[in-house]
Amino acid sequence: MTKEELIQNIASLKREKNAIILAHYYQEPEIQDIADFVGDSLALAQWATKTAADIIVLCGVHFMGETAKILSPEKRVFIPDQNAGCSLAESCPADQFELFVRAHPDHTVISYVNTTAAVKALTDIVVTSTNAKLIVDSLPKDEKIIFGPDKNLGDYINKLTGRNMLLWDGVCHVHAQFSLDKIMELKRQFPDALLLAHPECPKYLLEIADHVGSTSSILHFATHSDQAQFIVATEAGILHQMQKENPEKEFIPAPPEDSTCACNECFYMKMNNLEKLYLSLKNEKPEILVDEAIRVKAVKPIEKMLEISARYGL
Ligand code: 13P
Ligand code: SF4
Repeated sequence: MTKEELIQNIASLKREKNAIILAHYYQEPEIQDIADFVGDSLALAQWATKTAADIIVLCGVHFMGETAKILSPEKRVFIPDQNAGCSLAESCPADQFELFVRAHPDHTVISYVNTTAAVKALTDIVVTSTNAKLIVDSLPKDEKIIFGPDKNLGDYINKLTGRNMLLWDGVCHVHAQFSLDKIMELKRQFPDALLLAHPECPKYLLEIADHVGSTSSILHFATHSDQAQFIVATEAGILHQMQKENPEKEFIPAPPEDSTCACNECFYMKMNNLEKLYLSLKNEKPEILVDEAIRVKAVKPIEKMLEISARYGL
């Protein structure tokens, strides 16, 4: 099938089945271009609650599909490639996290959305990189908090809020491997460029960044900045929307350490492609299913996140 035929067939299947395609900013450009909505993790969760579609094809990684299913159990949720996982979610197995939580019974448990449903079921409030600071700030100053699984995001939020949250020792394999030397070289080459970094990046990068934020925050900052050049330290898929919204500006991907590639890609996010998207809609698989006992526990901290976010206009 040609690319044009795939696009046409996806459009007809969507109409026929009352389906919607939600895509994360790290997806291949051709998926972003045909999606009904492209956004960050928070926006994808919010869309899952408000769409009237019967079927959601979540073009992202497994935890994103799971979050949509947890919030909207009456809808069927598909993901183009069932192996599209997340190294950060994998760095926090539920049984080990449960021991950590049990060892600190007087702590409120905050989990990043990049976790499995089983970890969310052990959590009091879920956060994304867009609302983590706001949600932590909304809690009493003396509240004891466990934050997992991303230690870089947790450390950054501790610094911003003056807290001392206990951190789980997890990282994202993509954001952990940006090369400081290569970024410093780019800064010398493009002295006017601003460095934009996702808070999953290590501290040494966040400290020299001109702006730190979630994917949507990075996109928003670049669009509203007077500057014309940006070095972007997050997964390179975001550059597609940045360039689309700002054709006159220049976006330079920050390179990884141990590779000759100029940009840093999430192997999991890139497992999805147009053909797999077409097949998932046509064959109605792979489907995201969540055990009901886990779902009823996991939905509470996600709804709490959505409720606090809405209270602050997010
Ligand atoms: P955002 O919520 O900022 O889009 O981040 C998702 C993610 O997986 C970052 O690696
Ligand atoms: Fe997970 Fe990192 Fe990929 Fe985001 S970029 S989905 S945190 S592995």
